Amino acid sequence: MKQIFSRERGTLANSSDDAGLEPARGREVLEAHLATARDARPDRPWMMANMVASLDGSATSAGRSGGLGGEADRDVFHALRSLPDAILAGAATVRAERYRPPRPRPDGVAPRLVIVSASLNLPADLPCMAEGHGSRPPLVITTESSPLPEREALSDRAEIAVLEGERVDPRAALAALADRGVGVVLCEGGPRLLGQFVAADVVDEWYLTVAAVAVLGDAGRITAFDQEVVRRYRLRSVLHDGDDLMLAYERAESSAGMRTT
Ligand SMILES: NC(=O)c1ccc[n+]([C@@H]2O[C@H](COP(=O)([O-])OP(=O)(O)OC[C@H]3O[C@@H](n4cnc5c(N)ncnc54)[C@H](OP(=O)(O)O)[C@@H]3O)[C@@H](O)[C@H]2O)c1
Repeated sequence: MKQIFSRERGTLANSSDDAGLEPARGREVLEAHLATARDARPDRPWMMANMVASLDGSATSAGRSGGLGGEADRDVFHALRSLPDAILAGAATVRAERYRPPRPRPDGVAPRLVIVSASLNLPADLPCMAEGHGSRPPLVITTESSPLPEREALSDRAEIAVLEGERVDPRAALAALADRGVGVVLCEGGPRLLGQFVAADVVDEWYLTVAAVAVLGDAGRITAFDQEVVRRYRLRSVLHDGDDLMLAYERAESSAGMRTT
């Protein structure tokens, strides 16, 4: 993994000139990101997002994200998972990607898996439901409109947070996480879930791998939302590994919440 640009280090190498790149520093930059302290906001956890997209903007290949990224994307995926108290995913992603219980972080504590669902269609044979998850079952965030029989059936394999309204409101979901002691949450998509958090302007830090592959077809983008909403971010770093790019951005107003330790 090589560094091209890092805001902290103020370096920008000419990407067409490989001699200007320092391979060892890519890992260093990633580790510097991981070592950055992230302060929860007064009313919500610090929110990170991690996604992969193809060169032509697809969020999936053959219906899954795994077909896009290479080894470096998987490295970033696992490195980022070593940070949060909770990993947040939409139910469709949990079903499509067959989510497993998150592995313990280096401190031995596993981030909690948090799933947002309206239907509560989270069958018992999903790996994250079926496999042992230590003392903490997944947390499912839903609303009072969700079907009662499914809520009852799910209650023996998950904690269920029932929020007001028809759809889970992103800020209410974050407040529910803060109530449970979550200081940092990592959203892993999918596009429909992430779109709502981006629209609510609560994504503080956003990692994007651009995979050097064109997918064509009709796969969607990495966010989906029913209207145009413009949000701005600052570039923190650019790494590349082989042909893939790893980009790190932060929400423009969020910089004050990050401290280099
Ligand atoms: N490129 C990437 O980095 C990446 C990352 C993640 C996923 N993916 C891919 O994206 C696809 C899935 O993404 P997606 O956008 O279709 O779905 P998604 O965001 O993963 O999940 C959507 C589902 O989450 C629940 N949900 C979302 N918002 C809700 C709200 N406000 N209130 C209540 N429930 C809510 C609903 O679950 P119920 O249906 O249970 O009601 C909804 O159907 C998969 O193909 C996956 O492989 C790609």
